[in-house]
Amino acid sequence: MKKKTCLLLLLIGASVTSMAQQKDGAVYLDLSAPLEERVEDALGRLTVEEKVALCHAQSKFSSKGVARLGIPEVSMSDGPHGIRAELEWDGWNYLKSSNDYATAFPSLVALAATWNPELSLLYGKAIGEEARYRKKDVLLGPGCNICRTPLNGRSFEYLGEDPYLVSEMVAPYVRGVQQSHVAACVKHFALNNQELNRMHVNVKVSDRALREIYLPAFKAAVDAGTWSIMGSYSQYLNQRCCHNEVLLNRILKEEWAFDGAVISDWGGCHDTRQAAAYGLDIEMGTNPEDLSYSKDDLYENYYLARPYLNALRRGDASMKDLDEKARRVLRLIFRTQMSADRPWGSLATEEHARQSRIIAQDGIVLLKNEGILPLKPERKLRIAVIGDNAVRLMSNAGGASEVKTWREITPLQAIEEKYGKENVTFAMGYDGGAASYSQVIPATSDAEELRTEALRCAGDADIVLFFGGLNKNMHQDCENSDRLSYDLPYGQKELIEALAKVNENLVVVLISGNAVDTSWDKDVKALVESWYLGSESGHAIADVLAGDVNPSGKLPVSFYERLEDCGAHSFGTQAYPGDGKDVEYLEDILVGYRWLDAKGIQAKYPFGYGLSYSTFQIGKAGLDKKQYAETETIRITVPVTNCGPVSGKEVVQVYVGKKHSDLLRAPKELKAFEKVYLRSGESSEVSLDIPVERLAYWDESTSQWRIEKGEYQLYVGNSSQNTRQYVISVK
Ligand code: BGC
Repeated sequence: MKKKTCLLLLLIGASVTSMAQQKDGAVYLDLSAPLEERVEDALGRLTVEEKVALCHAQSKFSSKGVARLGIPEVSMSDGPHGIRAELEWDGWNYLKSSNDYATAFPSLVALAATWNPELSLLYGKAIGEEARYRKKDVLLGPGCNICRTPLNGRSFEYLGEDPYLVSEMVAPYVRGVQQSHVAACVKHFALNNQELNRMHVNVKVSDRALREIYLPAFKAAVDAGTWSIMGSYSQYLNQRCCHNEVLLNRILKEEWAFDGAVISDWGGCHDTRQAAAYGLDIEMGTNPEDLSYSKDDLYENYYLARPYLNALRRGDASMKDLDEKARRVLRLIFRTQMSADRPWGSLATEEHARQSRIIAQDGIVLLKNEGILPLKPERKLRIAVIGDNAVRLMSNAGGASEVKTWREITPLQAIEEKYGKENVTFAMGYDGGAASYSQVIPATSDAEELRTEALRCAGDADIVLFFGGLNKNMHQDCENSDRLSYDLPYGQKELIEALAKVNENLVVVLISGNAVDTSWDKDVKALVESWYLGSESGHAIADVLAGDVNPSGKLPVSFYERLEDCGAHSFGTQAYPGDGKDVEYLEDILVGYRWLDAKGIQAKYPFGYGLSYSTFQIGKAGLDKKQYAETETIRITVPVTNCGPVSGKEVVQVYVGKKHSDLLRAPKELKAFEKVYLRSGESSEVSLDIPVERLAYWDESTSQWRIEKGEYQLYVGNSSQNTRQYVISVK
């Protein structure tokens, strides 16, 4: 170390010590002291009232510190696609500040579609920097609930239908955010798999499905070191998930040894006694109407505020539990605001926009291409851009995840940039209605006029680019409401079919956070799923359409032929949406492609699927059993060749199944994947490791993970329905 730096560190050390000495030798102020020492020291200085004050909100998005001791308040923000604009102290109205524009990153379902954990780390780092600059200590995200049904209004905020993929993608995001000493708050723990009745629905799910499907991503986030977790609105075992004995105390805190803070979802806490005893650490967002008090003195009336203090005084709540909560909140504060070497962060930078664009490009999925794409700009084609989604701003919509972004490039803008304004015409084609989270605002335009204009515009062009899908309005990928149907809304199906009749060179770009009906796609020459992509949305889409970027996204959710093909929709209302009180996950562990495989149903576009402008050959895999015997790991070596004319990326996927088993088994389950970049003509060997414990199932009779012995089938390929089979035996 250089002399000067040494001196500087000594000086900083001295000033920290003297600050600590000023406060009565307080270890908690000594940033270099071990975390637990600091926590215990601070805890020892708090009164009961001060400890209770740490456990509930003091405003819509912050909770108290300890002003007397210089322990700061905790400031929180949504999440997970960018830092949300500033809201009123007590309300949901925006402050209309001018310093809260942020970068909008792609929706998490798009991140999942990259199948690229490195980009998840990049995403987490970038959004963590923005949170840090905006002085946030907790970022409310990422969401990692499983996409059980394509009707779920919040699938776009989650990472797909497969627990392994979600786990691999959630962990780097968490690590990335926390590099800025901002806590990730992984949500919504657990079983928040629908928005309809979300505030109270009681989920009945088998232990196996809970452990094998719905919890692994949260466990991965805990193993990645997340400093906080958000409880969900749902109920499990007829108990609110925000204060749930089994989920929070037994599984999260005891079994997984999570040492961070559990934060309630906003309005998810409903009972003082349960919140005190069953694992909630910070109560947020309780609605005044849920309390039997007026709005005055609101926060003091929270379940974990004065009523908690009274319960403690009466002896109805335990001081030990209170200390445990206070400890966790102090840890949160010391890990974030009161940490050593906290970086400064940065906001809405060109660098973040660039990173957002890279992630967006990587997540776009090419579903169909009859040779029409890429559209090289040199061809000077006359392009008709049709569709409301070509001009609709999406980032600042959809509920809690909305971002007031400093810029959002629409598809139309980017197409005009790429192909020249003079070559592009636009017609709206259909009207998706005014943006609204809480009501359906009927379209005001004349549907027939829009259609006529679109058909005229399409008829005059060489190529038609239709931008449709969903739009984050109520019932169209939006918090607090599920979709009402699997179909495309606003008459898009009929419009697409009519467009195909006037111009056969029709390319459809779907912008959505969920699978949608694509029964009309026989009429289109190419089909792209772009998801919601944030600030650089249009740029990323145009990059792919023009071939500047070779698409490499793969579906993180199954596209079903019909809604009834989805497991959750095969049992009638009992399994979705439930009877208003309970919902029963009757498909059990067979979620997404697992159900399709088990029932022999062909997906319309399968999980893991996505085309490229190149073609990749995945050769015969080698299985290294010796390696397995020594390290309890199966090593699969797969030769991959880019046989096409352009460089690109392919995702090698390994699924495992067990044909002869006494258990209910999915025919195959994703257990490893790797995204590989290859230049045209290049070959490479991809090595994938599967530790044998990854093959374990949850044994309900002993409540333990167990590995069945015998033969397993390995399926290696580039989608869940395009694989080559191998056999390996586990002794
Ligand atoms: C959502 C959370 C969000 C919170 C704060 C809730 O309604 O479910 O995801 O973080 O509000 O906006």
